[in-house]
Amino acid sequence: MRLNYDDLAEQYSQNRRIHPGVLQNLLETSHLTERQSVLEVGCGTGNYILAIQAASGCIGYGIDPSTKMLEVAQQRGDQVHFRQACAEELPFPDDSFDLLFTVDVIHHIVDRDAFFGEAERVLKPSGLLCTVTDDEKLIRTRVPLTSYFPETVEVELARYPRSDQLRAEMQKAGLAVRENVITRRPYDLTDIRPYEEKAFSSLHLISEEAWQCGIERMRQDLQSGPIKAVSHYLMLWGKKCEP
Ligand SMILES: C[S@@+](CC[C@H](N)C(=O)[O-])C[C@H]1O[C@@H](n2cnc3c(N)ncnc32)[C@H](O)[C@@H]1O
Repeated sequence: MRLNYDDLAEQYSQNRRIHPGVLQNLLETSHLTERQSVLEVGCGTGNYILAIQAASGCIGYGIDPSTKMLEVAQQRGDQVHFRQACAEELPFPDDSFDLLFTVDVIHHIVDRDAFFGEAERVLKPSGLLCTVTDDEKLIRTRVPLTSYFPETVEVELARYPRSDQLRAEMQKAGLAVRENVITRRPYDLTDIRPYEEKAFSSLHLISEEAWQCGIERMRQDLQSGPIKAVSHYLMLWGKKCEP
């Protein structure tokens, strides 16, 4: 089943925020200046590219196929150039960007070879690519998504590419694979609205019964205090080789 982000834009914009560790690692690794250009592919409501542009002063671009997600992004800031497009066909000339990144998007891209080929084409020589995603271990240990909705594991493992597969695909496109970073943020969860409103796409892919059962358990556990949660991401870095 493919998700239509036009239908999810409202819940997404109300419930999904940046992960501070992801933002910090993107900024610290890329050392952006005001003259450099950055593209977020699958920018959605603009969470990351707006924050990166504000923190660095870089020239920011965001593309996404969803009209509604882009409408929210455009309302949130005009410092970034937003355009409707898909990862597989990037509407930019060769050698345009110093940094190109995706967050929570790679599992939605049907033709990843086309995407990585396009990423290599639009990056400047020595430009950086970062794929921010989850791997099998992270998916199995998610709290609260996996601990309260264990049915999401099977769904997620079926749609998320393995990290060694992603590394091989990046290399095949001519990108040099660099370090991988895992960023974690433990936090106290007190507001379960994002789960009640299904702001996480995997909650749309399990049965209503499984979702309801997880929500009931969350409500009960919250009565005795915050839920100890952790948000984590795998960040796969690559670099375009010099000609
Ligand atoms: C989970 S959201 C992530 C949004 C944003 N990166 C963030 O972290 O807030 C996934 C986004 O990927 C977009 N998407 C789906 N298929 C895509 C494709 N083929 N090319 C580019 N973006 C795509 C969706 O429209 C959606 O906005």
